[in-house]
Amino acid sequence: MRNRTLGRRSLAGLVCLLAGLVSAGALAADAAAGKAPYAVCAACHGQQGEGNMAMNAPKIAGMEGWYVRRQIEAFQQGLRGTANGDAYGMQMRPMAMAVTDPTALDNLVAYIESLPDVPSQPTIEGDVAAGQAAYAVCAACHGPEAGGMEQMGAPALAGQDDWYLVRQIKNYQQGLRGYDPKDIYGNQMKPMASTLTSDKAIHDVVAYINSLR
Ligand code: HEC
Ligand code: HEC
Repeated sequence: MRNRTLGRRSLAGLVCLLAGLVSAGALAADAAAGKAPYAVCAACHGQQGEGNMAMNAPKIAGMEGWYVRRQIEAFQQGLRGTANGDAYGMQMRPMAMAVTDPTALDNLVAYIESLPDVPSQPTIEGDVAAGQAAYAVCAACHGPEAGGMEQMGAPALAGQDDWYLVRQIKNYQQGLRGYDPKDIYGNQMKPMASTLTSDKAIHDVVAYINSLR
């Protein structure tokens, strides 16, 4: 009797699980299928997407799928990686251009999202208290814990390679990113980077972001 009840319960559970899998399968991309095309990316971003400072390629493991997709599309559309002097963006752009098939991109994004999100090792030092004060303006879009806010289009910063954060802030300031009028999100970020008026201010805010990991 007891066994029969249990049996029915687990059968009902299995049916629910299967229904869930089928509907998820209809919508979701195939992360497993994204593993093979990721091999190209691994050469610079690392086997687990952990980032590689020597290759100037940031951590992408666990990055929000919507943000990865938007950056790939920005590179493809020439909204990023085309500014004169943006050596690193120019390395990435042809890699994005190679992902032409929409399904392949879906799968690749799903695979990157599935990689273990291990916070990177800090390399930048700064005045965390001063950085916290400066971060107040950033929190409106990147979130109080720098975990990112999709509705603002602003990615997570906590746990990202700190040297990469420093470089991107400078890129915005120097017009190497957020330079195209069609780059809506880059245009939102560019004036925010200008609120950090010295190298020290940049290092301080990044040191604070490091403390949120
Ligand atoms: C030749 C080395 C190289 C390869 C291969 C490569 N990338 Fe990159 N990628 C970079 C560099 C360098 C940057 C940083 C560009 C910058 O500083 O603006 C970057 C940046 C990115 C970014 C932006 C991250 C952010 O936070 O803004 C994403 C997303 C990305 N790469 C995904 C990929 C994917 C997916 C692949 C494989 C299809 C790939 N990359 C292959 C070098 C590479
Ligand atoms: C008005 C909203 C807004 C505010 C405020 C803001 N940002 Fe951003 N930030 C964005 C958006 C949107 C992006 C993504 C741009 C894109 O898609 O290219 C971004 C991107 C970034 C990036 C690049 C991340 C990456 O992975 O490439 C860094 C670094 C960054 N912001 C730091 C900051 C800091 C530090 C502050 C505070 C001084 C700040 N942001 C304030 C909206 C904002």
